[in-house]
Amino acid sequence: MTPDQLAHADLRLDVDGAVATITLDRPEARNAQRPRMWAGIAQVLEELGPEVRVVVLRGAGGTFSAGLDLGLLDPGRTDEEGSFVATLALDDQAIIDQIDVYQRPFALLTDPRFITIAVVEGHAIGAGFQLALCCDLRIVAEDARLCMKESALGLVPDLVGTKPLVAAVGYARALEICASARIVTGAEAGEIGLAQVVVPAADLDGALSATVDALTAHPHGAVTATKRLLQDAPARTIEEQRLAERTAQVARFRELAAAFSPAAGG
Ligand code: CAA
Repeated sequence: MTPDQLAHADLRLDVDGAVATITLDRPEARNAQRPRMWAGIAQVLEELGPEVRVVVLRGAGGTFSAGLDLGLLDPGRTDEEGSFVATLALDDQAIIDQIDVYQRPFALLTDPRFITIAVVEGHAIGAGFQLALCCDLRIVAEDARLCMKESALGLVPDLVGTKPLVAAVGYARALEICASARIVTGAEAGEIGLAQVVVPAADLDGALSATVDALTAHPHGAVTATKRLLQDAPARTIEEQRLAERTAQVARFRELAAAFSPAAGG
């Protein structure tokens, strides 16, 4: 994407070797999300080169994201996205198809090609919380405030956040968090398995750097194949998972053998 396209999508992109950092860059609105931002994240993820092993998602201005741009719920909104209320004129299938498009960047964050990390400080509300949930790992400031606000607005979380939330904290805790729309602090997120690293906000960059170093230390092919295995494990029987492990290992053997064969100079 060009710098102008990124700016229009309220995004910044920095690619440094194996690490791509996508910054939600609308701090004056607490990085509230519009469809243009979702389309931009999807395009950035699709365009990343094979050298990228880790994708970092963070927010500008000391907060992750205040979620959906609430202006989109204003029936009188006339900017390029218009109002979500106008969507009600469509039939059910058309609305389902529209949400499918909106969900795309959230789903792409689970792509096994790279490991995705959300760096969460300040607020992660609604769509912001879901964006963080769709990342593989969350590095969270201990005073961050995460909230699945949708039920308070009479809605459900529909941006791919429910499955990773249940996977992280289990059904009962997920229901309690969603139904109550309460704040989960960063410290609690660490205790209940929502966050993998919890540090004071001032230490986020150091924690990110250490995590990225650890995640990029080992062969990329092994890491992506392992991510794929772990992602698919919950939906498989033990026999299916054993087969998947064996199959993946053969592919690893072949790749390693090819790399170390005399013809490859290894
Ligand atoms: N949409 C649009 N603008 C937003 C916004 C949002 N979600 N959140 C904050 N802003 C804007 C404010 O309107 C304000 O703009 P002005 O300066 O022009 O008045 C600016 O950002 C700063 O906001 P605050 O002064 O409120 O900042 P704060 O730091 O004191 O509080 C906050 C931050 C706790 C995130 C608070 O802004 C807030 O509660 N925002 C709304 C959060 C929300 O309800 N989001 C929707 C969740 S539901 C969802 O995302 C999914 C879905 O599908 C419905």
